[in-house]
Amino acid sequence: MDSKLLFADAATIATPVLVVFAIDTQSEKDSDARPLLLGASSALEEAARTLLASGEFKAALGEIAVLHAPAALKTERLMLVGLGKANDGSADTLRKGAGAAVRAAKARAVRELAIVFPRPARPDDLKFADALAARAIAEGAEIGELDWDTYRSERKERSVETLTIIADEAARTEVERGFEAGRIVAAAQNFARALVNEPGNVLTPTELGRRAKAMCDVAGLRCEVYSSQKIQELEMGAFWAVAKGSAEPPALIVMAYEPANAAADGPVLGLVGKGITFDTGGISIKPADGMEKMKYDMAGAAAMIGAMHAIARLKPAVKVISVVCSAENMPDGRAYKPGDVVTAMSGKTIEVVNTDAEGRLVLSDGLHYAKTLGCTHLINAATLTGAVSIALGQLNFGVFSNDDAACEQFMRGLAVSGEKGWRLPCTDDYRDHIKSEIADIMNTGKNRYGGAISGAMFLKEFAGETPWVHLDIAGLAWNERPKPWLAYGPSGVGVRSIIEWVRSFEAKTTADSRG
Ligand code: BES
Ligand code: ZN
Ligand code: ZN
Repeated sequence: MDSKLLFADAATIATPVLVVFAIDTQSEKDSDARPLLLGASSALEEAARTLLASGEFKAALGEIAVLHAPAALKTERLMLVGLGKANDGSADTLRKGAGAAVRAAKARAVRELAIVFPRPARPDDLKFADALAARAIAEGAEIGELDWDTYRSERKERSVETLTIIADEAARTEVERGFEAGRIVAAAQNFARALVNEPGNVLTPTELGRRAKAMCDVAGLRCEVYSSQKIQELEMGAFWAVAKGSAEPPALIVMAYEPANAAADGPVLGLVGKGITFDTGGISIKPADGMEKMKYDMAGAAAMIGAMHAIARLKPAVKVISVVCSAENMPDGRAYKPGDVVTAMSGKTIEVVNTDAEGRLVLSDGLHYAKTLGCTHLINAATLTGAVSIALGQLNFGVFSNDDAACEQFMRGLAVSGEKGWRLPCTDDYRDHIKSEIADIMNTGKNRYGGAISGAMFLKEFAGETPWVHLDIAGLAWNERPKPWLAYGPSGVGVRSIIEWVRSFEAKTTADSRG
């Protein structure tokens, strides 16, 4: 999709669809109140007047109403898109609204649309700055546009080709800034989603390495892709234990962004990703039902590769190194077994109780390796546990940390990214979960209780004293039910928040005005 900005009066724009956002203003005091259009001129208000007066359109989040041949406007159709109640409103409602508008246009085989940039109709109607609004619209539209028919022999070809955001000249600088950032972030998220969508036979660890390298070459990042030999040389005993059961060689992918303007003694951020391109469970094999989904067990790796793509283009003044540990978890004559004891790169010994808890094994070596490369702050993303969805459902990803300040810094970025994460504990009193009778630690919990916490406790051993944030994205990486603003399939969760966390290390602007 080609998207652009236009500073003009929306009433004069000739387009197949003109989109206007609306908020639901009904309250207990005033249950007859009609939806309020955001950023609309009097000509637009007039065109929508009868529809709004009918009460048929409630402006619920993602709700759509379409008017054909609206009077006194140049557009063929006027599309009203609901954002829900104003006081529920964050910039993320615009992200969803823009996504819903694009998807509704696609469903109507419309290839071109224009969106009226929302300005508050009353002082209290919108609580975010123009830059963030522009960014959210650009992101939502690009994210909403994608559908996954890559592997159909007959592509449906109903893409929206052109999107124009029509804004007021008065907001030009802010809107331009947010729009550019939004396009970069959305491209990164869509890149991650495309990786997650690939089946395991196509996206092997080697292929993931190739795609990361190709991205880095274009983006101007340093990238090294290593395999079995280097992993053994580095004595990554945990990573190698998982990898050795597959005929597909593993990949250790290291990407580096080293801007000249980063302070020499400044932080070095480490982005570590779980890249299991297929998780059978290994010898502790998973049930057949739903196993096909385990191709998305590399969503954490994809999030990091996507984030690096955006970082290369946004150019924050901070060093970033990403370490992706990619392997296939297979049962085989050479596979690791329950009961095996392996030695991680850090020197810690691990009793393998369940070969299906492989993510924490590959990450333990990834986290330690990132520290040896000089990382002063760590973040990892992983589809680590089924248990995190039992704890949080499929709305929030799990956030764990060994450092309150680092965690709060991450959580503040969620207001900008529009993603939802909820902090869960991993305090030392949970250490008992991973205590082994025969080795330093074991790779599962004592029982099923608090399974997401056991996973976090395991990783925490390898973060050590380094400030670290762990995102367990298992519940959100695959969108099971299509939403008005998001297709079925890979969600790209984590990409936006990880980018925001990186930017927060250099940002002097407030979170709200960051575009
Ligand atoms: N890849 C899975 C976790 C997962 C589950 C991701 C559902 C996405 C959706 C992970 O490797 C795993 O199997 N974890 C086990 C851990 C257990 C054996 C301690 C789990 O969650 O059951
Ligand atoms: Zn597993
Ligand atoms: Zn896994």
